[in-house]
Amino acid sequence: MKFVILGFTGDLTRRLLLPALLRLLARGEVGDLEVLGLGREASDESEVLERLEAFLKALPGTDLKAWAALRRRTRYLRAELTPEGLRGLRGLEGDAVFYLALPPALFAKAAEALGALGLAEEKTGFRRLVVEKPFGKDLASARELNAALHRHFREDQIYRMDHFLGKWAAENLLATRFGNRFLEPIWRSCHVDWVEITYAETLGLEGRAAYYDGAGALRDMLQNHLMQLFALAAMEPPARLSPGSLRARKLEALRAVRPIPEGARGFAARGQYRGYREEEGVSRESRTETFAALKLYLDDWRFQGVPFYLRSGKRLARDAGYVALALRAAPQGCFGEAGRGYLVFWLSPEVGLDLTLFGRALAGEGLEAHTLRFRPERPPERTAYEEALLAVFRGDLGHFPSEEEVEAAWAIVDPVLRAWQEGEPEVYPEGSEGPASAWGILEPGHAWLPLGGEG
Ligand code: BG6
Repeated sequence: MKFVILGFTGDLTRRLLLPALLRLLARGEVGDLEVLGLGREASDESEVLERLEAFLKALPGTDLKAWAALRRRTRYLRAELTPEGLRGLRGLEGDAVFYLALPPALFAKAAEALGALGLAEEKTGFRRLVVEKPFGKDLASARELNAALHRHFREDQIYRMDHFLGKWAAENLLATRFGNRFLEPIWRSCHVDWVEITYAETLGLEGRAAYYDGAGALRDMLQNHLMQLFALAAMEPPARLSPGSLRARKLEALRAVRPIPEGARGFAARGQYRGYREEEGVSRESRTETFAALKLYLDDWRFQGVPFYLRSGKRLARDAGYVALALRAAPQGCFGEAGRGYLVFWLSPEVGLDLTLFGRALAGEGLEAHTLRFRPERPPERTAYEEALLAVFRGDLGHFPSEEEVEAAWAIVDPVLRAWQEGEPEVYPEGSEGPASAWGILEPGHAWLPLGGEG
């Protein structure tokens, strides 16, 4: 198989893509492949590979044997993203994966150039196109990009990266939901009061201002990663875990979301951490949100009337990523006031599950909360990126959102994007719970789980 990386000399390739590939190779999870790296740098092949090697050697955990073997099978070509500029690929035979490790503005151009050279045609083997995030910046641009990719590539040749679908914890949400029959009857509005999906980070910009200041938390995290977790939690059980039925079920859930009203009042909140505007590369007047929260309602049989709260932000009190089902409290009859149980699927910083139930208090009378904690003994073997890459090599489309899912997710957030063209995000202190306005979108009696910060 040929693994053609467009954007070979970029940061994504050396920081994420190649390290993941090397770990897969070291574990023997992918067979022989040849790498064809394409980039705009004029340097010759040995210079490019030398520099890459120095970078990889400095990265903790690089398997140098795997790299030495891969290096022998890696070619570098200087190339522009036009049919003429990519002529070095003419005559490419056999199975090939084209990975667009490029700035999003170049996705369509690259796909067009590859297609014009006939490289999407599967005469001598499969042809797959991997597109990194972000996929569009609103519904209209996502539609345009889909149309541009489809000029030469069929939908089943397109792999839209969303590394959250490769997270063990996201797969475990599915496995736990559908591997335990007793969960099915409670996984609905009669036992669930609300669902919270949080991905809180202590990290800030990490030198990514050029991208992030034009994107913001809603586009960076909610439209893609959190919306996929939402779809996994909200969807109906698929009869099979085939990519087709999984995607169809997720799509149904996304399409069942009641449209957020224009103005998004009471449905969305945004914040910006104090000091964001002073970060390098950020505009001093930036109105970009570093925190976003949404409330979604589904008009379907399972979750009618149950709000799903989604939030994600940078520089918050701690790293905490989870999907939490807030369970309805028992009536007060027997033991006095019963509290609310929770079923929490952890994605970060650890993976696992917490189930909080009520039992007899150890002292005094009545009930108290008891939490059952499950944490796997070892960390999952593959990282999210490895899982996604392996899924590309295996041709497993179930790990990637479809064209329709991506568009449905944009359709959900579009009214919020429009509303946020006006006004400013609320400033929140670093290390806090985020902006106070995030509490304003919750229904009476509902609460975000505490992150342990102030404010
Ligand atoms: C990326 C976002 O897609 O996901 C980042 O661009 C974010 O802003 C990251 O930090 C979070 O995912 P993970 O797996 O690195 O915790």
